[in-house]
Amino acid sequence: METTGFIHRFEKGGADERPLLLLHGTGGDENDLIPLARMIAPTASLLSPRGKVLENGMPRFFRRLAEGVFDEDDVRRRANELTDFVANARTHYGIASPIALGYSNGANIAAAMLLLRPSELAGAILLRAMLPLAHPQPVKLDGLPVLIVSGARDPIIRPESAAKLASLLERYGAALEHRVSPTGHELSQADVTLAQSWWSKQASNR
Ligand code: MLT
Repeated sequence: METTGFIHRFEKGGADERPLLLLHGTGGDENDLIPLARMIAPTASLLSPRGKVLENGMPRFFRRLAEGVFDEDDVRRRANELTDFVANARTHYGIASPIALGYSNGANIAAAMLLLRPSELAGAILLRAMLPLAHPQPVKLDGLPVLIVSGARDPIIRPESAAKLASLLERYGAALEHRVSPTGHELSQADVTLAQSWWSKQASNR
């Protein structure tokens, strides 16, 4: 469906549970993360847009010049556009600010939203994220809960870039947890278990 600027899928869930904003990896679409989201939050509302940038026909959330080398002007523009989409979709569907659940390119655009305009997010689960902007300006994250899960043998995301993202978000005030799962760039059961226990901790804090 496209009612608010992005082709997306919306699944209505319980009104008293935080919605999830699902952000897929390169080559994915709005359907990809639904099964993962349902393992983490079985009854939450899900808002799942499809990235608008095409790289050889593969949807993404922003342009890159090479693997791990980003077009930062595009990162900024697309993070703003996605934040506007979330604001419009919240009004349209009557939902609270969501927690982002992003994988790879989707985790990187979620990280850019946190660094540029965090107001529409209630937190984030970033799976295989790296720092999406070389020199972001300070932002106030006021205790926003963020879980980063890196892969110990990830050949795509450099550990120092993930660590830098984690330390910046923490410096800007996020309640940050950075875990490393014993895997590569792909997701594993360890990611699901870490995300599930983080999600239940957030639910009991609400
Ligand atoms: C990105 O482009 O966001 C990262 O290199 C991860 C990827 O999508 O491969």
